[in-house]
Amino acid sequence: MSNSIRQAGIIGTGSAVPGRVVTNADLEKIIDTTDEWIKSRSGISERRLVSEGEAASDLATTAAKAALASAGLSPEDIDLIIVATFTGDMPIPSTSCIVQNNIGASRAAAFDLQAGCSGFVYSLSVASSMVASGAYDKILVIGADVLSSMTNWDDRATCVLFGDGSGAAVVAPVGEGEGMLSFCLGADGSGGDLLTIKAGGSRLPPSMETVQNKQHYIEMSGREVFKFAVRIMGDAAMEALEKCGLSPADVDLFIPHQANIRIIEAAARRLELPEEKVFLNVQKYGNTSAASIPIAIDEAYRSGLLKKGDVVVVVGFGAGLTWAAATLKWVI
Ligand code: ACO
Repeated sequence: MSNSIRQAGIIGTGSAVPGRVVTNADLEKIIDTTDEWIKSRSGISERRLVSEGEAASDLATTAAKAALASAGLSPEDIDLIIVATFTGDMPIPSTSCIVQNNIGASRAAAFDLQAGCSGFVYSLSVASSMVASGAYDKILVIGADVLSSMTNWDDRATCVLFGDGSGAAVVAPVGEGEGMLSFCLGADGSGGDLLTIKAGGSRLPPSMETVQNKQHYIEMSGREVFKFAVRIMGDAAMEALEKCGLSPADVDLFIPHQANIRIIEAAARRLELPEEKVFLNVQKYGNTSAASIPIAIDEAYRSGLLKKGDVVVVVGFGAGLTWAAATLKWVI
């Protein structure tokens, strides 16, 4: 342990999605919807959903192993694991502790972080501060969500939007002026009722009644969340860039939360970014919540879109309401 201030960066990435592909045509068979409606309103063509018995930690474990291999590290090298999720395997133990055991990271401390779909970027910010303070050296940051477990499959306004998955990144000290350059985190609890799961916590513990009333499922005021998202994605990305003295013209790749193509396009217009600088995979996976940004980072890196020295902006929004953006200088 040292007390010096150190810059932190991502030195390895990984991701995992379930094998089961559910297309818009499959959904047409179970609810009153069409492929045309889903594509035109959200940009989603298909999503990956877990099979019976598969949980968040299973996806997180696979993503974590891939990130470790990408960083060239072994599980014993990791001294902290943070899992961003609101659909963990169970309330206790934390999903991070389950992953710690699964991968054999016996030296690592572990905790979960809940900030809705913004959770991965919130977790990056925590990891960055932990490295900067000298408290930890090698941190596994994971976003994992199994939204299908909390989705009301009778509610066509929400069920078509979500998917399951996990993405992971290894965060470690990097050179000065590299790695994570700035963050913009925010929350507006007054908008909390726009996106809720009402039962299952201490306010409304599980009961026959809460199950019958379908209160364990996600409820969303879609139009209101949409307006919030369009405004906040641009604002948060701009603030993160300004904080490190950069502007949208400096951005090589923009990696937004993959919730809806129309929200992403609005944010890109606000930043005046050309199409080729905006990463998109929402068509394949839908909204995978805290997993969406790390899956996108991993796919961008593995496909060669992200190169050493590139300036990357990531930005997410979600339940809470929360938002989080970061500017990174890519180091691998
Ligand atoms: N198929 C066909 N019709 C549908 C469907 C569907 N799957 N869902 C809704 N409709 C209907 C509605 O009933 C409505 O009909 P009406 O006008 O007769 O009442 C009509 O389509 C239009 O509905 P809107 O809500 O106005 O549609 P909108 O253009 O706003 O798109 C959407 C809806 C896609 C949900 C959009 O509002 C959105 O993307 N919001 C943000 C969602 C989001 O990103 N959430 C992040 C959540 S983070 C998290 O949950 C973890």
